[in-house]
Amino acid sequence: MNDLQSVVAHAKAAFELARTPAELENTKAQYLGKSGRITEMMKGMAALSVEEKKTQGAAINLAKQAIEAALNARRQALADAELQAQLQAEALDVTLPGRQRGSGGLHPVSLTLERIEAIFGSMGFEVAQGPEIESDWFNFTALNTPEDHPARSMHDTFYVEGGTEQAPNLLRTHTSPMQVRHAVQHVKKHRMAAEGSVPANALFSGAMPEIRVIAPGRTYRVDSDATHSPMFHQCEGLWVGENISFKDLKFVLTDFCRTLFEQDDLVLRFRPSFFPFTEPSAEIDIQFQSGALAGRWLEVGGSGQVHPNVIRNMGLDPERYIGFAFGMGVDRFTMLRYGVNDLRLFFDGDIRFLSQFR
Ligand code: PHE
Repeated sequence: MNDLQSVVAHAKAAFELARTPAELENTKAQYLGKSGRITEMMKGMAALSVEEKKTQGAAINLAKQAIEAALNARRQALADAELQAQLQAEALDVTLPGRQRGSGGLHPVSLTLERIEAIFGSMGFEVAQGPEIESDWFNFTALNTPEDHPARSMHDTFYVEGGTEQAPNLLRTHTSPMQVRHAVQHVKKHRMAAEGSVPANALFSGAMPEIRVIAPGRTYRVDSDATHSPMFHQCEGLWVGENISFKDLKFVLTDFCRTLFEQDDLVLRFRPSFFPFTEPSAEIDIQFQSGALAGRWLEVGGSGQVHPNVIRNMGLDPERYIGFAFGMGVDRFTMLRYGVNDLRLFFDGDIRFLSQFR
């Protein structure tokens, strides 16, 4: 092996030994650098004849090219190895199952409320929302409940700050305050359109579109056991027009209950009762014809024909306008719908209970 061949062989071997790009560049300097072996050999040609220079120069150039080729090959190999190592370090195991984020769901009471709104919506009822902190006027007085009426104490009211002794504020004990709240707005709007103004204290006896509304929401009473919670849900219903009778009330509620429970043979009973804001008044009982509760009468709400005094408080002339109202226990419906026997389960927030409704 001549000198050049051995230089090339040494260079190749040295490049193979380099473990990193930095080491490789250092090794390169030993051959191709300013005082490297090849450079030294070039310098050594100065003493040669022209003929010798030609052949020796060509041979050195070939050797240099061979070293450069080996260098580049090794550079590429080191870069590949580096990339490979990086890919390995950052490897994703695509066969691992993904991390699951639990999906939430609506509360069973919300599911029932959604269904109630959909069913009444299909019967042409709009949905109104009222405040949970209510005035004594809308909760009691406007609903024909006199100051000393037993109904006020019957309701075991939570009173809250901010009102006066004559007009206290309270957490609404039922959704019925929405009857007058909503009707007053409805009457005002259509009276403005019809007459251009709304005179104080004069009852409206002109023509207007019917009031057909439900008002679902939270209600509060000082009460707590397996079937009573201090916070519970009701859904109010109100239909006021010129010719709305008890017959319409019976039809609407029967149709509603049968649709809600998806049982066409479900039977309703209107049991005579008393509410200050309806006359006559009736409790609504339902009876399933099949299933675990078949044959039992279950109370689900109150109802009645709107009392003329309440019609007046709506700003309407009771000689022309008449209607019915009802108030249903949404939690009760939810318990019956899903076979839940303790109301408190709805409000404990236990995920094991709630996740069953997802
Ligand atoms: N508000 C009554 C209650 O809470 C129910 C009811 C509503 C009765 C409308 C008649 C008319 O018990």
